[in-house]
Amino acid sequence: MTAPISEQAEEAVEGDDDPLPQTQGGNLKVTLISLHGLIRARDPELGHDADTGGQVKYVLELARELATHAHVREVELLTRQIIDPRVSGDYAQLEEPISENAKIVRIPFGPKRYLRKESLWPYIEMFVDQTLVHFRRTGVPNIIHGHYADGGLAGAQLSRLLHIPYVFTGHSLGRVKRQRLSLGASDTAALEKKYKFTARIEAEEIALETASMVVTSTNQEVQQQYELYDHYVPSRMEVIPPGVDLTSFFPGEQPWKQPLFADHLACFLREPDKPMILTVARPDERKNLETLVRVYGQSESLRELANLVLVMGTRDDLRELPKAQQAIINNVFYLIDRYDLYGQVAYPKTHRPQDVPDLYRLAARLKGVFVNPALTEPFGLTLLEAGATGLPIVATNDGGPRDIVANCRNGLLVDALDEAAIERALTRALTEPEQWQEWSSNGIRGTRQHYSWSNHAKRYLRDLSDILEHSPSTVQLNKPARRLPEFDRLIITDLDNTLTGDDESLAEFSQLIRENEHVGFGIATGRRLDSAMKLIDKLGLPRPDLIDTDVGSQLHYGEQLTPDRSWRKSIGYAWKPEEIRSLLADVPGLELQEDNHQSEFKISYEVDTRKKVTVSKIKKILREAGLRAKVVMSLGMYLDVIPVRAGSDLSMRHVLWKWGFAPEHVLVAGDSGNDVDMLLGRTLGVVVANHSPELNRLRKHPRVYFAQGSHAAGILEGIKYYNFLDQIVIPNDRID
Ligand code: GLC
Ligand code: MG
Repeated sequence: MTAPISEQAEEAVEGDDDPLPQTQGGNLKVTLISLHGLIRARDPELGHDADTGGQVKYVLELARELATHAHVREVELLTRQIIDPRVSGDYAQLEEPISENAKIVRIPFGPKRYLRKESLWPYIEMFVDQTLVHFRRTGVPNIIHGHYADGGLAGAQLSRLLHIPYVFTGHSLGRVKRQRLSLGASDTAALEKKYKFTARIEAEEIALETASMVVTSTNQEVQQQYELYDHYVPSRMEVIPPGVDLTSFFPGEQPWKQPLFADHLACFLREPDKPMILTVARPDERKNLETLVRVYGQSESLRELANLVLVMGTRDDLRELPKAQQAIINNVFYLIDRYDLYGQVAYPKTHRPQDVPDLYRLAARLKGVFVNPALTEPFGLTLLEAGATGLPIVATNDGGPRDIVANCRNGLLVDALDEAAIERALTRALTEPEQWQEWSSNGIRGTRQHYSWSNHAKRYLRDLSDILEHSPSTVQLNKPARRLPEFDRLIITDLDNTLTGDDESLAEFSQLIRENEHVGFGIATGRRLDSAMKLIDKLGLPRPDLIDTDVGSQLHYGEQLTPDRSWRKSIGYAWKPEEIRSLLADVPGLELQEDNHQSEFKISYEVDTRKKVTVSKIKKILREAGLRAKVVMSLGMYLDVIPVRAGSDLSMRHVLWKWGFAPEHVLVAGDSGNDVDMLLGRTLGVVVANHSPELNRLRKHPRVYFAQGSHAAGILEGIKYYNFLDQIVIPNDRID
């Protein structure tokens, strides 16, 4: 469970002792995954767009700090490679150093152009495949840490596949955002279309389900936000607040040098040397800026004591801002006029990021106060930044500020709806010099003690040590015990309705496999091994070199049907078949298939098509009972429940990884729902024309070819399309 923050922070500062087991000494490789936005180490373009903000800053700081730690050999921050004339060429570089042992690695996946985060969902699987290739070349990490829903999903997949302990940070959460936006919204379908909530929330659930540790910033985030998730497990949640950037936010130096930004204020203020009441906040309703202006406007004494400085983001043409922001700024202007605050209020139009620390220092020098009167404040980084420069704070009595004031004792908390209380608190800060001095020094000291990245990293690594000690060893990828005999490429196909259905083409296909000795042959099917082998013999197919059965839960090789041991070992993770069977026994419309279709890692049902049984409904039932499993629908009539580490996506990747095949050298073919997962990766996909509607969602994928021909004829067509037997070409990749 999470301890109160003050307690935790105290542990943090005393924790100089060795947090990691000796065996790990100096040897940790940490992989951070943060996929969206523009990430570069030199001059990060924070604020460039909605996706390039706090999270980018967070992951860069985290990487830099972790890398300085004695136990850490290397930190790599994986993100997207972007090749787009609209953004800097820096984002096309495959690698960029962050610091001595930390670097950014940019993985190419999906279209090359810049994409907003909501558009990344179709390409996450490709990222996973590309990252496997990267790991194979450079070695697997000891820890994977996924950030936000997109990186969270990708990291979870990699960690499941490679059995590497997983850490997740949500940064902001889909369920919370959807809740907030749906209040008063009439068109929820439009919200879904814009924000892709379903994909995002599903990704977050998978990340939470996989994570051994979830890193959060405040207690409130745990209690009010993560709590909304099916896979909320309090014991895995850790509150480790991020650090403030102490290299930028430090107290003013002696001798004092007036910052340039002071000129921007001087043109608003009659007496620029008076103390200032400073706020820095986006014009967002939640920030409650209008109340602040009203409090100031109505208070003779505050107006006497201090100027009011409102830094409300930057704007070019006010009318180009979103409507909601315009309304707030207009109302602020109205209140300035209403109370005739000219000469006493400054509201600069623009500022650069580096002006902000200067502004805090200036406010501190003038013995002012920072105020955050927000209606709610989950974290409140500005309060830490103010504190670190020695500017006392008055802040809303909510999540983030509560933790901050408890830890740093650098100001007062107020009820954001109580105007008299806000006035009183500001007056105290401006009229009690001794108190001011104490708050100021407390802020400088407290932020360094509780909110430095170095303490963040210490606590993080200490919590990790526990996880690493208890995690089984990872899959060995670099030295396969045995190669799939000398093939340089593989064709892996489903049986029913993909290979079967057209005898003539089937014979042609068998012939092709027999004639091309450099091509390995694999089967991937929902059938059990025994029934699959029977059918293979009956059809007179060549014996497969690889056979993936039971919906990606069993892997066998060659003549002898040698089981894949490492696969077998990992598959049973979190698998509780008895519980699942009894839980789903009474679901209307679900009927267990006959016993000879059931197997150790597969529970198969038939679906009564009149009863509206959906995958999401079954998933929900399982989740609510705390059971972890994958649910796969095929032909709209078969529903399979398999372990979280099963499925043809993971089994295919395991095969590629283990035997060293590049995804481009593997062709996969299928027709129905249980083939979807394997078709999603970077392998070359072929969907036969007689496919079921479940596969339509793959149409946009560049590496999935929809054949004109049905059954085996469709596969043969796909082999031609990719020129698979010779110099392989991937038509869509070239277009991109
Ligand atoms: C095969 C299996 C069946 C499964 C279906 C879908 O037909 O025999 O048990 O439900 O594939 O994966
Ligand atoms: Mg099939």
